[in-house]
Amino acid sequence: MPADDVDVLLGAVVSVGRGLELSTTLRRLVRAAADLVDARYAALGILGDDGQISQFLTVGLTDSEIRAIGPYPRGKGILGELIRHPAPLRLPDLAAHPGSVGFPPNHPPMRTFLGVPLQAHGSPFGNLYLTDKRGGGEFTAEDQRLVEGLASAASVAVENARLYSEAQLRERWAHGNDEISRRVLAGDAPEDVLDAVAAQAMAVAEADLAALLTPDDDLPRHLRVRAAVGVGAGRLLGTTVPIGATFAAETYLSGQPTVTADAGADEGITVATQPAGTVGPLAALPLGGPGRTVGVLTVGRRRGTPPFPAVVVEALGAFADQAAVALELAERRRDAERLAVVRDRDRIARDLHDLAIQRLYATGLSLQGVSRRLEQRPDAEPDAERVTRAVDDVDETISLIRTTIRGLRSADDPRRVGLRSRFIAEVEAATRTLGFSPAVRLDGPIDTLVPPATADHLVAVLRETLSNVARHARATRVDVTLRVRDDVVMTVSDDGTGVPDDAHLSGLANLERRAEDLGGSFELERGDPGTTVRWQVPLEQ
Ligand SMILES: Nc1ncnc2c1ncn2[C@@H]1O[C@H](COP(=O)(O)OP(=O)(O)OP(=O)(O)O)[C@@H](O)[C@H]1O
Ligand SMILES: [Mg+2]
Repeated sequence: MPADDVDVLLGAVVSVGRGLELSTTLRRLVRAAADLVDARYAALGILGDDGQISQFLTVGLTDSEIRAIGPYPRGKGILGELIRHPAPLRLPDLAAHPGSVGFPPNHPPMRTFLGVPLQAHGSPFGNLYLTDKRGGGEFTAEDQRLVEGLASAASVAVENARLYSEAQLRERWAHGNDEISRRVLAGDAPEDVLDAVAAQAMAVAEADLAALLTPDDDLPRHLRVRAAVGVGAGRLLGTTVPIGATFAAETYLSGQPTVTADAGADEGITVATQPAGTVGPLAALPLGGPGRTVGVLTVGRRRGTPPFPAVVVEALGAFADQAAVALELAERRRDAERLAVVRDRDRIARDLHDLAIQRLYATGLSLQGVSRRLEQRPDAEPDAERVTRAVDDVDETISLIRTTIRGLRSADDPRRVGLRSRFIAEVEAATRTLGFSPAVRLDGPIDTLVPPATADHLVAVLRETLSNVARHARATRVDVTLRVRDDVVMTVSDDGTGVPDDAHLSGLANLERRAEDLGGSFELERGDPGTTVRWQVPLEQ
């Protein structure tokens, strides 16, 4: 090799080896190869875990030229030739080679070709493609030797960068776990832990979007998005996905991860990755292993970005396992807290009964004795009257305490939370997706008169209508009312865009069915602006 060339090669090797970021290293490598042999165009095809090209870096093409050409090649034609036979390939005319499949429309003409495979740790990880040597000549054997030299030197730099990126992945993963453990230990509510899991998963996977789905309480055979972060998270949160038709559901049923390089190309997936078309690479991981799956963690990247490598999916799997344990702990803690409240109430009720009431009785009795004695003294009449009033007061206090005890005892079962509290909790939960708090008016003996089955329906109807407002209405205010008299009437009004005339009813059709099943009615009123949903059922069914 001439001394000049050695200099150029050394310069190229040094420039590639500088820095530790894999993507930067690779970009430097393509640029250095192009400069080294005077190629007008150069490209680096990185092989994915499936042996196909998963990432394509180019030199010499402008962004608009790249856009005009369309999706990068996956490994057909000459590019595939090098994948199948990882050996250098030098051609005077690309199109004349029997393996050539021609160029897509809008592709600039390219004639001379030099391809060199790249290896790291003894296995191929990609190929360097150089085309159109400047000056009109062909690539020479000398060019080939130079690029081969660069390729073998670069493999060390690439290997280093890979190790570095894996170390970073482990670091993000450890940090994510710490963050979640910290929240569980701090006693955060399960919803907040869910949010944290989604956020940390997005960071671990360097994804653009992450969501957590768990089985829905109201809709059988549906998963509901309980937490979402990143691109389109607002639209995703609260939506349901039927089990059996989607990517996430597949993972839920099998307890196995599912991974795709392009969700847009897969029919069933779009539902779980709104807005459709924005997400390419997607991975779904089970929360908890096979047979004890409690939910699904999905992460996605924007279309056109590299797919999730196997190491990342593996790390996410372990992360999801730990997240499942954390969630379980958070749930248990909440149960334990509820139980503690019940025990506390029970103790208070007992104390009130055994101590307070008995003592008041004693006080009342001795006051009665005093009153009788006073009655026998005519000069003490006003005092006697006062004492009698005090005795009445004591009686009334005793009956007040008895009512309180009954109240404490009837609230015994922590799972039978009153409709009023459930209703308010549901509205509060929607605040997160709406971005503002709905106004609520509750009217009438809600907890006493509404039977449990109707209460369950009401909560489900409220959830669906509020989720509709959050997802479709672009509203700035929502008014929720619940009135219980001879019947139960709930209204949810928003000041948003209104329901389009040609809307296809799905969740709303369910609301109608729920009302009809209970002998009630459902009305959708178009406001000016906005929408009012009125849901009414009688109390006696
Ligand atoms: N409050 C609202 N404001 C504006 N548009 C609405 C509102 N509620 C519903 N819509 C429109 O009516 C359509 C039907 O709503 P519906 O709840 O039946 O189905 P969905 O929300 O699209 O799907 P699903 O309920 O199954 O998640 C929606 O797609 C939306 O276009
Ligand atoms: Mg809906």
